Amino acid sequence: MAAKIIDGKSIAQEIREKIKKEVEELKEKYDIVPGLVTILVGYDPASISYVKGKQKIAQALGFYSVEERLPENVSEDELIKLIDKYNKDLKIHGILVQLPLPKSINERRVINAIDPRKDVDGFHPINVGKMIIGEPCFLPCTPYGILVILEKIGCQVEGAEAVVVGRSNIVGKPIANLLMQKRKTVGNATVTICHTRTKDLAFHTKRADILIVAVGKPKFITADMVKEGAIVIDVGVNRIGTTPEGKAILCGDVDFDAVKEKVSAITPVPGGVGPMTITMLMKNTLEAAKMWNGLPNEVE
Ligand code: GUN
Repeated sequence: MAAKIIDGKSIAQEIREKIKKEVEELKEKYDIVPGLVTILVGYDPASISYVKGKQKIAQALGFYSVEERLPENVSEDELIKLIDKYNKDLKIHGILVQLPLPKSINERRVINAIDPRKDVDGFHPINVGKMIIGEPCFLPCTPYGILVILEKIGCQVEGAEAVVVGRSNIVGKPIANLLMQKRKTVGNATVTICHTRTKDLAFHTKRADILIVAVGKPKFITADMVKEGAIVIDVGVNRIGTTPEGKAILCGDVDFDAVKEKVSAITPVPGGVGPMTITMLMKNTLEAAKMWNGLPNEVE
């Protein structure tokens, strides 16, 4: 079977065009401009590149965007002070602190300092709690993007066996939760979560109608571990080298070339989930701007 290669870039582009149009209308009708601040601590090349991408898209969509860069040795208190400044800034509707943070900083304390009404990453415990009980909230951007992909390709999620490999707070835990939610759109799946202590990983992955992989290990899922006709969502972004021009060579957590011969649809890396993550961040920021201005929105 030749798999459908899911074009995350074009799904993302379509959503961004809608966002751009709505941003123009908001500006015209109400003089509202969605505002996003990104806060980056340190010099991790992957984080620098992610934040650059987020800034570029925010500007292209007509957002007010602010980029904050702090040195690796900044104190936790200074970082929290900066977050607090943006909590109070009426021009800013979304605050994103790029993770991971340096080891000297308590990540939980930092996330908890973000006003949950500006938590466009959906990482604050208030938003995590709302997501779990199925209340409107900011959904974390990568899981949100996966839901949109599954909906867009017409994946039958209800009643499907969904297997999530990886249990991170950013991807594994929330996507597992969202897929099992009683939702009108994408949901009602039977979900299994696998992790480093799972005894027979292949037993589980081979049962999956929908396989979601977020472990950060290059080509970890091989063709013998997937079911014929499955839908595979590869969240991994692994840097496995550099081109002579100095560009990173990326690959996913799934052995794409071999697995694509066996499954019905698969996301490539790059160009699959990545563009969706950034797009859903913009969507959350747009919804935050509407919420802060008392307009109908999807997050409260
Ligand atoms: N690091 C990796 N993914 C993410 C994300 O979605 N948001 C933030 N803030 N940091 C990340």
